[in-house]
Amino acid sequence: MQKTDYGKIANTYNKRYVENYLMNIERELKSLISTNNYKNILEAGCGTGRWINCLNHDDFNIYGLDFSLEMLSIPKQKKHDLNIINANAVEIPFKDNFFDLIFCVNAIHHFPDKKKFVEESKRTLANKGMLAVFGVDPHIDKDWYVYKYFTGVYENDLKRFPSLDQLKILLPQGGFENIKIKSVENISVKRIGQEVFDDPFLEKHGNSQLANLTEDEYQKGIEKIKNQIEKNPQTVFTTSVIFYLVTAKKI
Ligand SMILES: C[S@@+](CC[C@H](N)C(=O)[O-])C[C@H]1O[C@@H](n2cnc3c(N)ncnc32)[C@H](O)[C@@H]1O
Repeated sequence: MQKTDYGKIANTYNKRYVENYLMNIERELKSLISTNNYKNILEAGCGTGRWINCLNHDDFNIYGLDFSLEMLSIPKQKKHDLNIINANAVEIPFKDNFFDLIFCVNAIHHFPDKKKFVEESKRTLANKGMLAVFGVDPHIDKDWYVYKYFTGVYENDLKRFPSLDQLKILLPQGGFENIKIKSVENISVKRIGQEVFDDPFLEKHGNSQLANLTEDEYQKGIEKIKNQIEKNPQTVFTTSVIFYLVTAKKI
């Protein structure tokens, strides 16, 4: 699997949250924690800390783990008391049965071995602990203009992102039960013509899909968009994405 260079993405990554703060995911996460009174919590693939920063650290212990030092340097700039760890989500450096909740947001598609991540989550979660996976499923939702204009991006996403159906199989096989799936955030944006260039997701290092392209592949996609706008300045560029939450309890 192609490894995304998050060193190049880190500095501009948070632009996406200026564009859309994904408040429903935040609400859902806070509700999961307060309803179940979880005390030891891990975010796997915490990146720039959007989620660990919004949680109240006085009420519980929260740890953020990420592969990329550059991504981890961003939350450090904000708060110095965060428990952040530079590590791989498929080798969680914690003792058995330690966490009540392990969650990841928009990250599982990067983990090189999803089965190993599920196994590691099971090992480090306490009995009845919860694994919560927030993410998109391009196998279902594909109405994103980037897929149309950049060759190979959609096919690559189908390989990288586990589908909801795959998770429904993977989680019970990894020792989890009570699998629940719901949609938590519905993003629907239409940009007309040149407005598309205001989209932070269209920058070369605005997301892993475009960052994984060569400069040449990226420029070809940009040219296709420009040609289309020349042909029809009123072209609609649609981004229609749903974030799902999959929860499972350790047996
Ligand atoms: C799209 S970002 C999501 C960051 C954060 N969860 C958020 O929603 O803003 C994906 C993150 O996963 C991290 N990542 C990729 N592979 C990883 C791995 N094997 N172990 C830990 N983190 C990983 C990347 O470094 C990156 O910070």
